[in-house]
Parts: sequence; C-alpha cells; structure tokens
Amino acid sequence: MNNKFLFACNLKMNLLQPKFYRRALKNKFVDNLIVCPNFCDIKAYSRLKNKFGVKIGAQNVCEKPSGAFTGDVSAAMLKNVGADYCIVGHSEQKKYHFETLAKINKKAKILLEHNITPIICVGEEIKKGAEYAKKYVKEELNIVLSGLDAKKIIVAYEPIWSIGTGDVPTNQHISAVCTQIKKTCGCSKVLYGGSFSKNNYKQIAEAKGVDGALIGGASLKPLEIVEMMENLK
Ligand code: PGA
Repeated sequence: MNNKFLFACNLKMNLLQPKFYRRALKNKFVDNLIVCPNFCDIKAYSRLKNKFGVKIGAQNVCEKPSGAFTGDVSAAMLKNVGADYCIVGHSEQKKYHFETLAKINKKAKILLEHNITPIICVGEEIKKGAEYAKKYVKEELNIVLSGLDAKKIIVAYEPIWSIGTGDVPTNQHISAVCTQIKKTCGCSKVLYGGSFSKNNYKQIAEAKGVDGALIGGASLKPLEIVEMMENLK
C-alpha cells in the first residue's frame, strides 16, 4: 500500500450490500480503501477488488487452523473468499467475547501464515490523558506482537472511550500515542479509530504519526467515505 491516508471501514454486524460501495465509487479506482464486512458478505465484496481496487478485510478469525470449532472461521477460509486483511482484538470482541491479548497474538500469527495482514486494535478503556494511553498501549503491544514480524502488521489505536461516542481525543493526544506506537514496535501503518466522521476527518488526518483511520459508524455511509477520500487527496 502507498502513503495515502488509509480508510479501513469496519461494517460491524450491519447488512450493507456491496452495491452501495459500488455506486459510491462509480468509476473511481482507489488504492487506499479496505472494507471489512461480516463473514457472509466477504465473497460478494471481493468482487469489488478488480474493478475498483478496494481491498477486503474480515472482522475476526479463529486462532486454530481447522477442526472441531463450531461457529468459528479459519484464516484459510478467509483467504479462500478473498480477504487480504483482518481486524483482530477489536474492543467489542474483548468486551462481549472475553478475547485475551494472548489469543489476539495467536490470531495475528495464523493470519500472517496465510498472507493476511492483521489490523490489531489497541487502546485504553478510560479517558485519562495521553501519557496514560501511551503506557496502556505499550503494555498491550508487548503481548499482542510478541514473536511477530511487526513490519507486516497494521496497528489501530482505538481509545475505547471514543468508539461510537463522538468524543474524540485531541490531535496532540492522537499524535503522541500513534508516534510512540510506530517508533516502539515498527509496524507498517498506524490507524486511528473512534468516532471518525465527516465532521473531524480533516483534522485527524493532520495528526502526526497517523496513516489512516479504522472507521465504524461512518463506514455505513459509503458516499460520505468516498467524499472524504476525495477531499483528502
Ligand atoms: P466508530 O467505531 O467509528 O463507530 O467509533 C470505530 C470502531 O469500532 O472501529
């Protein structure tokens, strides 16, 4: 991927057919958009790859390669339907499915073995300033990146208190945390996530150390996503 501001759209558990992204993109070819639909729609979204350049990601993966794991989806299966990226360690998985940092590390490992780029989420739960966030994220990264080649990984800094709340950290805070992440772990890209929208994207895109955004709510409005991408060109 290039140096353009990266838009990673996490559709979460929402039905949004690929045609809405197709219509929003019209005849544009983009190289800085990753769409992460639910498992069932990955194959349908993969059809946008050739014509529009869109990259496709999953929202989760099982850390095991195959076998008796009812309800789980393996890295090989994701690759098979066209996923090249996969979000791991999202705070909603931590909250509702008790995902541990050790498990996130295993998931990232198996994704790399299948040539899928992990987008690993980290971030503090409580709003306590940039110094606290830096320390919190550093401790998380020590575990989730253990034994992995960070150069092949995208890290998403998502302060949990900012997700879906409209409460966004200052650019100074975002820069301090994202710059530290890049410097200490050497990952390929650092994304910011949490209430990213058409109201704040220009400002966030200016934050030092930020290579793109992991976007939840706003990604359900493909027209707005494409407009933001155009305006940041
Ligand atoms: P949000 O979600 O943009 O709706 O805050 C971000 C995320 O959960 O990745």
